[in-house]
Amino acid sequence: MSTPPINQEEIDKAVDVLSHGGLVAIPTETVYGLAADADCQEAVLATYTAKGRPADHPLIVHVAGPEAIDAWAEDVPPEAWLLVKTYWPGPLTIVLRKKARCGGWVTGGQDTVALRCPSHPWTRALLTAFAGPTHKGLTAPSANTFGRISPSTAQHVAEDLGIKPDGKLDMILDGGPCEFGLESTMVNLSQGQPTLLRHGVVTREMLENTLGFAVPDAGKDAPRASGRLKSHYAPKTKLELVSADDLARRIDELRGTPIAVMASESTLKTLTADTVLSITAPNDVRRYGAELYENLHRLDAADAGRILIETPPTAPAWAAINDRLGRAAA
Ligand code: TXA
Ligand code: MG
Repeated sequence: MSTPPINQEEIDKAVDVLSHGGLVAIPTETVYGLAADADCQEAVLATYTAKGRPADHPLIVHVAGPEAIDAWAEDVPPEAWLLVKTYWPGPLTIVLRKKARCGGWVTGGQDTVALRCPSHPWTRALLTAFAGPTHKGLTAPSANTFGRISPSTAQHVAEDLGIKPDGKLDMILDGGPCEFGLESTMVNLSQGQPTLLRHGVVTREMLENTLGFAVPDAGKDAPRASGRLKSHYAPKTKLELVSADDLARRIDELRGTPIAVMASESTLKTLTADTVLSITAPNDVRRYGAELYENLHRLDAADAGRILIETPPTAPAWAAINDRLGRAAA
């Protein structure tokens, strides 16, 4: 899985479309995003319509670099600068108190703004060209229909949201498959003690090492985030997480129902019943994460009556994966 060389012509076209209020799917190192000019209310609201996302769910503003922070946020604590210095560009989103410049159409009416500087070279080039002297940014929720599996390839976006006139987008910028495949880690820095809003490839342990103190999960009074909904990232087919020990028994109980399964190589070897699709789960956490949404898309397309996934390891490095699978199964 590698990123193709930058296609400047495509990037110039994307800048032009976005500058005229259009919608462009953009590649990032996490998942594909559905980008719009964050200063343009009409364009941003069109992304909500395209996704079918409730209007009170806030969006992340993607920026070209740390120099854009002061254009969008205020009361920025020193911890924010330290995290940005360490992890930007990269899969970390920080939530700060917003400046007046940042419209309520971006934040779902909340007084905070989520900022992220992606590392994918195509989108870095796009953001740098787009930003201009006022540090313009791009809102970009994951480029999927609300509640569904996030897209880690341009093809996922084409199949789900599609291109106008039949689909909903003006352009899909195909920058290859996403490197990490899991949405960015989100840290709330708007309320004193930094808290973790969403697990990702930047782990709690990494954040705590950088900051030198504990970063607990955000509590119930945390800002709204759809990635925190109990059911999210869901395939259309019902999905169950089953331990390795219980998998054979569960398949037996579901006899008559076509099953699509994802399990480790050693567990798959122990299964005797027929399945419509069986995917070998990667042992390596990075690969498991990078391929997770692609694998969920494949399992969902297998016309099974049930998807069974072997519960992955519970070590801290697997937190983001367990989080997404838990919501996909809810
Ligand atoms: O990796 C990512 O972050 C991807 C790529 C495209 O950058 N984007 C992404 O966006 O995952 P989205 O909209 O699918 O998820 C962003 C999450 C949502 O759950 C949203 O509610 C939350 O971030 N969020 C956005 N602004 C927020 C804010 N001001 N306070 C709290 N949560 C916020
Ligand atoms: Mg999403």
